Amino acid sequence: GITRHYKFDIKMQNVTRLCQIKSIVTVNGQFPGPRIVVREGDTMLVKVVNHVQNNITIHWHGIRQLRSGWADGPAYITQCPIQTGHSYVYNFTITGQRGTLFWHAHISWLRATLYGPIVILPKPHVPYPFRHPHKEVPIIFGEWWKANTETVINQAQQTGGAPNLSDAFTINGLPGPFYNCSAKDTFKLKVRPGKTYLLRLINAAMNDELFFSIANHTLTVVEADAVYVKAFKTTTILITPGQTINVLLNTKHHHPNATFLIAARPYATGPASFDNTTTAGILEYHSPPPSTPNTQNPKLPFRSLANTKFPAKVPKNVDRHFFFTVGLGISQCSQNQTCQGPNNTRVAAAINNVTFVQPNTALLQAHFFNQSKGVYTTDFPENPPAKFNYTGTPPSNIMVTSGTKVVVLQFNTSVELVMQGTSIIGAESHPLHLHGFNFFVVGQGFGNYDPNKDPANFNLVDPAERNTVGVPSAGWVAIRFLADNPGVWFMHCHLEVHTSWGLKMAWVRNGDDSGGKALI
Ligand code: C2O
Repeated sequence: GITRHYKFDIKMQNVTRLCQIKSIVTVNGQFPGPRIVVREGDTMLVKVVNHVQNNITIHWHGIRQLRSGWADGPAYITQCPIQTGHSYVYNFTITGQRGTLFWHAHISWLRATLYGPIVILPKPHVPYPFRHPHKEVPIIFGEWWKANTETVINQAQQTGGAPNLSDAFTINGLPGPFYNCSAKDTFKLKVRPGKTYLLRLINAAMNDELFFSIANHTLTVVEADAVYVKAFKTTTILITPGQTINVLLNTKHHHPNATFLIAARPYATGPASFDNTTTAGILEYHSPPPSTPNTQNPKLPFRSLANTKFPAKVPKNVDRHFFFTVGLGISQCSQNQTCQGPNNTRVAAAINNVTFVQPNTALLQAHFFNQSKGVYTTDFPENPPAKFNYTGTPPSNIMVTSGTKVVVLQFNTSVELVMQGTSIIGAESHPLHLHGFNFFVVGQGFGNYDPNKDPANFNLVDPAERNTVGVPSAGWVAIRFLADNPGVWFMHCHLEVHTSWGLKMAWVRNGDDSGGKALI
């Protein structure tokens, strides 16, 4: 591979959406941010220079960061944030991955405006394992607030309440025609008849799983989270925040002058008609002369996991088994806080009833210099405090405790992790994202996980390989991964509001097999 140099100047930029001018934090003044195009095997050197008042970090979402843990980016996990007037160089090599990923800010809610696609092409002369597309088009979903997103989250943190919902969903930064004052901000994809287009879908939205569809067109899924999958056809894609999905779009042969809606809308609003929770773009057949558009709405059911195309390297034996309950709960507010809940409580989110507290020192730094004392403890529970049994009604005690707790894994430990959605408050599923690894989704189901029965049905042959998986609200998902990557690896819900409420933890991959060099 070759070395590619990028410079990310973090600066403010005025952007107009929904008829309001807003000053937002951007990379190089662009919104969405610049597209990175590299090849498998390339090394990236990205110099990030912070010219704004906010502290900044950038995360390369889904990049495995093999032996480059310092470049991963989550604030206070692998690095201290880049302060105003300072810079940091992210240095990493893309090993064994090709496909679509994305980069985004990884501190507070700044990723609302700081995000962009990462396109990893195969090594030179290596073809795609599907029909070579006529054109490739990144389609990145986002969310837009009229207010400053830092104000939105800070207010929520202070009151212990829920943050304000966004004012629009967006496609490539554009809300589209269903929102007031937004028709001119509509994404258009101009296509020719009878061609194949590779759409690189990225869900960079803050808080919502999205359905995606194109009117009267079938999509062929070929890749998910930068892993080739057994191709299948569908009219609708379900994509959680943090997931990336590549689809082929074959344009029709006889549609001169036609236009079709491209639409994405949240899971949470249900299969209602198109309204102002829907971001839309236009698929426009390029064939003069123009005539009256025939715009048709897509329909929405779905399938969300795809089997790997090539045999998967699933760990066959399990060294350590973990069972995590994942969901919302209640925590006690401190005395100097006035929270909205009964008896001065606030909504919290937790794994095994532990709400993660962000430290003031980066965990990786503390780990590397053997200074974990006072920064983190290694007693993250392997199981929930009480046996979890979902009966449809909330258990009486949903109080959580807080702490900066991690799990320590020795080199090459093979891990099985079952995550059970508790569905205690709200019905959303939780898109859990693991840094530093791809994992295999070996099983999933509704209701309670049964350790005596369910493992018999695990798929150890061609399970989906991902970096983000939805833990169903009243169900479970089982994953496996091999702890072969030294570093400190964050795992969290990719719904930003849940991350803010504490639905996060970290894995420390111990035992430095590289003589220390790998982490410097
Ligand atoms: Cu896409 Cu920890 O993030």
